[in-house]
Amino acid sequence: MALPLILAQGLVKRYHNRTVVDGIDFTVHAGECFGMLGPNGAGKTTTMRMLTGLTPRDGGELTLFQHFTDPASSELHRLMGVVPQEDNLDDDLTVAENILVYGRYFGLPDPIIRTRVEELLDFAQLTERRDHAVRSLSGGMKRRLVIARALVATPGLLILDEPTTGLDPQARHLIWQRLGALKSQGTTLLLTTHYMEEAARLCDRLMIIDQGRILAMGSPLELIRLHVEPEVVEIRTLHPPLDRQAFAHLPGRLEMAGDTLYCHSGDASEIMAGLRGRRDLTCLSRPASLEDVFLKLTGRELRD
Ligand SMILES: Nc1ncnc2c1ncn2[C@@H]1O[C@H](COP(=O)(O)OP(=O)(O)OP(=O)(O)O)[C@@H](O)[C@H]1O
Ligand SMILES: [Mg+2]
Repeated sequence: MALPLILAQGLVKRYHNRTVVDGIDFTVHAGECFGMLGPNGAGKTTTMRMLTGLTPRDGGELTLFQHFTDPASSELHRLMGVVPQEDNLDDDLTVAENILVYGRYFGLPDPIIRTRVEELLDFAQLTERRDHAVRSLSGGMKRRLVIARALVATPGLLILDEPTTGLDPQARHLIWQRLGALKSQGTTLLLTTHYMEEAARLCDRLMIIDQGRILAMGSPLELIRLHVEPEVVEIRTLHPPLDRQAFAHLPGRLEMAGDTLYCHSGDASEIMAGLRGRRDLTCLSRPASLEDVFLKLTGRELRD
């Protein structure tokens, strides 16, 4: 069994008497990619900030790297790279300088940092931009730079808060590929994301949290197997609105969201057979996904 790099027991955070992280327990093992999913305001960033010592916790125990119980310990800084939700690059510096200055903060010798800067620029595909001002970068380039910068001291654990939010598919794929490469080199990853495809691709295990509590934990496939039927038919009408009652005979669990009726079942072909000849409908049959699990557990109402 791999060593637990993060052991969190009963973590609690309150703001103005409101409990936003409500006693959560989880373990992240060396070498795995662990995901934290949850709607807006679920407590993901707050949890990450408690793990990195940026936000003091109001309860619970933390053990990091099997040894440290104070996440603010200076010895941990080199071991844990952090990619915050909001980019916090220094706009007055160039791309290369951002990594360089960060490396000096860790007290690394200059020749080592300079070698590392070149490696990381290459890793982030930013070598050609090395002398450009940060403000001239696209969102995707900035995100890659924040990730590169977090790796300057070669941390064993990388914590990423929404590494790909707002990025186009090309930029997202590049980051997925880079995170995959880090993992295969042995770096442990803890990440949050609102993209279920990202979680399903990258995470060995993940937890879904809401209102500061853990609703489910497991591998993406385990969660799908445990919480939803294996197949889904999405039904839309060419002439909305769709009358849900007219589909009550279908042998599946029906769920209406917006203009779409979702029919969850063990056998989509049975559902499709029941809809044969309905030219007024468009029906899409697909395997169940992590998004189905997420929506089943956290509901479909907006959170903010
Ligand atoms: N400094 C603060 N003061 C008061 N309330 C806060 C503070 N930071 C966070 N909160 C509240 O704590 C709750 C959890 O916030 P958090 O940022 O951890 O959510 P999140 O899961 O990261 O959401 P998102 O997906 O939107 O990033 C929210 O209700 C938020 O408003
Ligand atoms: Mg957040």
